[in-house]
Amino acid sequence: MYNEIDLHKIDLTQSPPSVDREPERQYYYIAKCRQWAAGKEQETGRKLKCCTKTFGCQMNARDSEKLSGILKQIGFEMTQEEEADFVIYNTCTVRENANLKVYGRLGYLNGLKKKNPDMKIALCGCMMQEPEVVEKIQKSYRFVDLIFGTHNLYKFAELFYTSLHAGRMVVDIWKDTGKIVENLPCERKYGFKSGVNIMFGCNNFCSYCIVPYVRGRERSRSPQEIIKEIKKLAADGVVEIMLLGQNVNSYGKQLEKPMSFAQLLQEVEQIEGIERIRFMTSHPKDLSDELIAVMKQSKKICRHLHLPLQSGSSAILQKMNRRYDKEKYLELAAKIRREIPDMAITTDIIVGFPGETEEDFRETMQVVSKVRFESAFTFIYSKRTGTPAAAMENQVPDEVVKDRFDRLLTQVQRIAQEEAGKLEGAVQEVLVEEINRQNSAFVTGRLGNNSVVHLPGDASMIGTLRKVRLKECRGFYYIGEEV
Ligand code: SAH
Ligand code: SF4
Ligand code: F3S
Repeated sequence: MYNEIDLHKIDLTQSPPSVDREPERQYYYIAKCRQWAAGKEQETGRKLKCCTKTFGCQMNARDSEKLSGILKQIGFEMTQEEEADFVIYNTCTVRENANLKVYGRLGYLNGLKKKNPDMKIALCGCMMQEPEVVEKIQKSYRFVDLIFGTHNLYKFAELFYTSLHAGRMVVDIWKDTGKIVENLPCERKYGFKSGVNIMFGCNNFCSYCIVPYVRGRERSRSPQEIIKEIKKLAADGVVEIMLLGQNVNSYGKQLEKPMSFAQLLQEVEQIEGIERIRFMTSHPKDLSDELIAVMKQSKKICRHLHLPLQSGSSAILQKMNRRYDKEKYLELAAKIRREIPDMAITTDIIVGFPGETEEDFRETMQVVSKVRFESAFTFIYSKRTGTPAAAMENQVPDEVVKDRFDRLLTQVQRIAQEEAGKLEGAVQEVLVEEINRQNSAFVTGRLGNNSVVHLPGDASMIGTLRKVRLKECRGFYYIGEEV
C-alpha cells in the first residue's frame, strides 16, 4: 500500500540515489535485494522464508511491521518459525529481563544456523543502542550477520544488501538522529487495526528509564504525514488506530507550526472510515484540560486512558523525575472520572525503586485503592546501566521487593476484578479481532475500554464492530451475545 515507487521501473544498472534522497535510495536497495532473492529462489526451487520476532512495546511492534514490509517487497514469505532463511529480532532493553530473553534465544538460533549455514541472522531495536550489548555480541555471538539500531531502521534494505556481500558481521548504530523518513513499505499484522507513530524518542529522562538513551530526542511527525497515513489506512480497511508516542501529550511542541495533541486528535476524528481512536502513552504531567474536553466530546476516542503512575509516593516520584506528585495525580484521575465517568484508567507501577520505604510503598497502595484502576501493569524495578537511578544509594533488597510486589499485585487484581463486572447486562460495541483460541464457535474482541469479550460468531465478523449484550463477566472478560 505504501508502494509509491514502482520497483520494476528502477534502473539497477545505475548507481544508487544519494543518501539525501530517501526513501528513493531504499527502494533502489529493495529492488537490488529482490534480484538476489529471485536468484536464490531459482537455486533452491522454493520461496525464501523470514521470521520477524518483536520484543518490547507497541513502538517496536510498529517498527517490526516496517521491517516485514521491506522483507515482503524483497520477496520473502513470512513465517512464525525461526527455522527460516532470515531471522530478525527487534529487541527491547527497558528491563534486564528483556535482554536476558534475547540472549537465551540467540543460543537457540545458533543451533539452527549450524544446521543451515546459509541462514542469516539480524538484530535491531533498543538493546542494540547500548554499546556494551554490541560488544558482547561481537565477542560471543559471532554467528550474527547484521546489527543496527533504532535510528537507522529505515535503512534496513540497504544494510541487508550490504550484509549479503560482506562476508562478516555488519554493524551500523547511530547515536541519535533528527531524521524521519516517510513512505517506506509496511506490512500490518492486522487488517483492521494499526498503530500510527506520531512522534519518536523521549525528552523526559525519568531517572530509572533507558528509553531516552536508546530512542533519542523527541521528534514529532508532521500532522500532514500523519493524516495522510491514517487516510490510507482507512481506505485499506482499518477501523481502529492507536496513535503512538512515549508521551503523546507533548506532541507537536517542536513543530515549525506548533500544534497540540488535542488539536491533532480533532483532525484525526474527521477521517472517514476510522471508527476508534486509541493512544499510548499519556504522561500525567502534560495531560491538559483541552485534551479532557476533546476526549469527552469525541465519538471515536476510546474510553480508555493509560496513565502511568509509577509510584504513589511524592518523595519517590521526585527521585524518579516524574514532575508530578501524589496529589496532582489523584486530582487528575478524579477530574477524568468526573468529566468522563465511563473512562477506564489503566496504569504502570514500579516497585522497589531505590530508597523506597514501606511508607512510600503504602502510599502507592493507597493511590491504587483511591483511583481503582481498571487494570495495572506492575514491574519490579530493574537497574539500567547509565541511568541516574542506577547510581542511587539504598537499592531495595530483593526479598523486600518481592513481598511488596506480591501485595501490590493482589490488590491490583482484586480491584480490576471488581471493576470489570460493572458493564454486565449493558449493550456495547465490540470490535471483533479473532476466532476464539479455545472454542472455534466463538470470536474474541474488545470494548472501547479495552475489556475482552467472547461471543458466538465466525470469521466473517473479524474486523467489524458489533453491538453486543454483555451477559456475564467471568474474572477479567465478558461473555456476550450479538443483539
Ligand atoms: N513512555 C511511557 C513508558 C515506556 S516504558 C511512560 O512514560 O509512561 C513502559 C513502562 O516500563 C514504564 O511505564 C515503567 O513503568 C516501566 N519501566 C521503565 N523503566 C523501568 C525500569 N528500569 N524498571 C522497571 N520498570 C521500568
Ligand atoms: Fe521512560 Fe519517562 Fe520517557 Fe516514559 S516518559 S519513556 S518512562 S523517560
Ligand atoms: Fe522496550 Fe524500546 Fe519500547 S526499550 S519498551 S522496545 S521503546
